[in-house]
Amino acid sequence: MKQKTQAIREEIEQRLAAGECATSKELIELKMEYLGKGGKISALSKGMRDVPAEERPEAGRLLGELRAWAEEQFDAREKELKRRELAAKVAGERIDVTMPAKFHAGGSVHPVTLVRRELEEIFSGMGFNIFEGPEIERDYYNFQALNIPADHPARDMQDTFFVGGEYLLRSQTSSGQIRVMEKQAPPIKVLSPGRVYRSDSDATHSPMFHQMEGLVVDKGITLCDLKGILDEFARRMFTAETKTRFRPSYFPFTEPSVEVDLSCKNCGGKGCRICKGTGWIEVLGAGMVNRRVLENCGIDPDVYTGFAFGIGLERIAMIKYGIGDIRLLFENDVRFLRQFKD
Ligand code: PHE
Repeated sequence: MKQKTQAIREEIEQRLAAGECATSKELIELKMEYLGKGGKISALSKGMRDVPAEERPEAGRLLGELRAWAEEQFDAREKELKRRELAAKVAGERIDVTMPAKFHAGGSVHPVTLVRRELEEIFSGMGFNIFEGPEIERDYYNFQALNIPADHPARDMQDTFFVGGEYLLRSQTSSGQIRVMEKQAPPIKVLSPGRVYRSDSDATHSPMFHQMEGLVVDKGITLCDLKGILDEFARRMFTAETKTRFRPSYFPFTEPSVEVDLSCKNCGGKGCRICKGTGWIEVLGAGMVNRRVLENCGIDPDVYTGFAFGIGLERIAMIKYGIGDIRLLFENDVRFLRQFKD
């Protein structure tokens, strides 16, 4: 018995020393191999029957010692493994607070959106409601109802993308005037912002750009009201000193029509590179709503009058932020866009 217990002891020592059980699961398996019901030590216990009676007490003692010793060994190793496993888990979960943080570039609002929001704020402060019409528009709303019949030479002023049939990409937000007047009786005071399209592309023209239409219809509206509202817009959008100037112009849907200039904020009217030496910068088209347009929408022109204006948002952004080429606005170069903050 002594030899047998000694042999098992050595075997266990060797196997533990060889690092056979690297995980607690493997350790349990090893433990079972010796101390489990069918294990090697239990087998020795069963063999006690064959031990001569006088040797039994000694054999029993040796067996008891072996069992106690083996349990101790396995327990010690189990504790050690648990400690190591915990240490590994903790190490794996450790956060290095000195590591540089992940960088998320903050976005910025597009300059055209900034201008649109500012205009909406200025005009809604003056009582304008906002109406948004469709970008794919019928010829009727974009042209005919605005007093531009088919074959009218004024159609050449706006090189239009036709989609097919009577549909086109709206070339002006003036189509919104008709959509509003068709549905609503005066008094009307709306602002209609949106994308418009024209087959045109150079440093100051983009095939897609943004306009903001304004329309006021009521009894007794005059050109002076238009001037007053645009003066207020110019002062709020630029500086308190900014002036507006009306020049006679032509649009089929307004009569009289004007081209509106702002005094150049760069030189204060003296003349510089930005205003091409004139002291004025052209920013929008406007006029009194043509009687024919009111009639087309079922509004009596002998009772009501109105004015309309159309502002190019890119043009305002270019003046406000000193941008020389309209294409910069649509190239989506973050180095450019990053410069504009809310
Ligand atoms: N729709 C005109 C344009 O795009 C601008 C305009 C709007 C003129 C309203 C007069 C009245 O050029």
